[in-house]
Amino acid sequence: MQTNVSIGEIVRGRQRLKEQFLLLMPCPFHNQQPDPFGEPRRKDGILVNNFQGTDVPMILKHEDVRRMAKDWQHFSSDAPFQVPIPNEEDVRTVRQLPLEVDPPDQGDYRKIAEPFFSRAKDPAVIAQIEELITGLIEVALSQDSVEIVRDFAIPLQSRGLAILLNSPQSEADIWIGWGMHVFREGDGTSKGKAMEEYANDLLDRSAANPGNDFFSALTQAEFRGRPLTREEMLGYCSIVFAGGRDTIINSISGVIGHLAATPQDFDFLREDLKRILGASEEFFRVLSPTTHLARKCPMGANVHGVEVKPGDFVSLNFAAANYDETVFEDPETMKLDRRPNPHVAFGFGPHLCLGAAHARLVVRTLMKVLCERVARIETISAEDKYETESSYRRRLAYDRLQVRLTRRD
Ligand code: HEM
Repeated sequence: MQTNVSIGEIVRGRQRLKEQFLLLMPCPFHNQQPDPFGEPRRKDGILVNNFQGTDVPMILKHEDVRRMAKDWQHFSSDAPFQVPIPNEEDVRTVRQLPLEVDPPDQGDYRKIAEPFFSRAKDPAVIAQIEELITGLIEVALSQDSVEIVRDFAIPLQSRGLAILLNSPQSEADIWIGWGMHVFREGDGTSKGKAMEEYANDLLDRSAANPGNDFFSALTQAEFRGRPLTREEMLGYCSIVFAGGRDTIINSISGVIGHLAATPQDFDFLREDLKRILGASEEFFRVLSPTTHLARKCPMGANVHGVEVKPGDFVSLNFAAANYDETVFEDPETMKLDRRPNPHVAFGFGPHLCLGAAHARLVVRTLMKVLCERVARIETISAEDKYETESSYRRRLAYDRLQVRLTRRD
């Protein structure tokens, strides 16, 4: 029997099939995380996306990302406001340091901040972070349920940063009020001016009455024998407040959401706490909280056949590189005992994340305290968080995650 089917019906049928397929796909934080860059990475090695009116080729292969991250002469970070994507021209007035400069200046700027970032390895700081997380978990256990993003991850990120930078917790009380992003409201409007005004005031207070904290140290620091300018000090404040904020918040909610949805992984960690070390790396690989960052090509470049004009940008897509199947077997599956795990979630080369030791400390301690004190995490409701662009849609973590924690006997 012959039936007449119109083109429109075929298209609608295909659409329905696609929707059904998407519904059947495993949830990203239920052990699997779909990779939006898989097909273009395998086919072309790049994906061109238009960001704020400009076409930017995103570099997707692990090998390319690592090579270009080291080749700062051809793929430069000397581009104020332009390294983050979307660029931050409309939300801040200072160049972030040491992020938006190239070696050798970058190395000298980095040395000024390093002593504070290496505090993440100091036993006294490790103990304070554990005390902070234990306190927050105890509060959550005492309640019927807790909203993880607003009432757990944001306070943990803000108070943890104050511990790292040796700042009083009264400053963290202010940072908690900034919400998920320091530069933009949920609707995208800029609130960067308020953050810069606060940082200016904090530096004034620190210069007038110096303590042993990071901000006081900036007011006394020297770059090649001269004091830092106020603009340079603000450049450090800017990245410290912005760079480690949503990345840490999304890591925290991502970990809790996964352990709620995958109790067997929770048991796997609890059986042997030494597994937390490797598991945290797998979380950073799978979550890849910084999707990508830009590099300027001062001399132009040709990337997988695409011409980049001198002065134009490419992006190093860390999230895509972390799912490269030539490096990571079965990359869409979270394997808490994956080894080796050469992920680039914290970047690669001279700009390797200064906050990585702190991020690792927070995530590992969170897992340890959860394993020790919590028997079960139940998801009550969840709103996923996405990064949506014209050529891809990537799941980050959660906008909201309401869970109930049950105490371990
Ligand atoms: C899971 C959490 C985090 C992720 C995924 C992350 C990711 C990254 C990445 C990919 C880079 C490389 C930048 C580049 O190549 O251009 C970077 C650099 C940097 N990050 Fe993080 N970061 C995290 C947490 C933090 C925290 C908590 C802080 C500060 C408190 C921080 C401060 C910095 C700084 C200062 C740099 C610049 C280093 C340089 O240019 O030498 N990050 N981060």
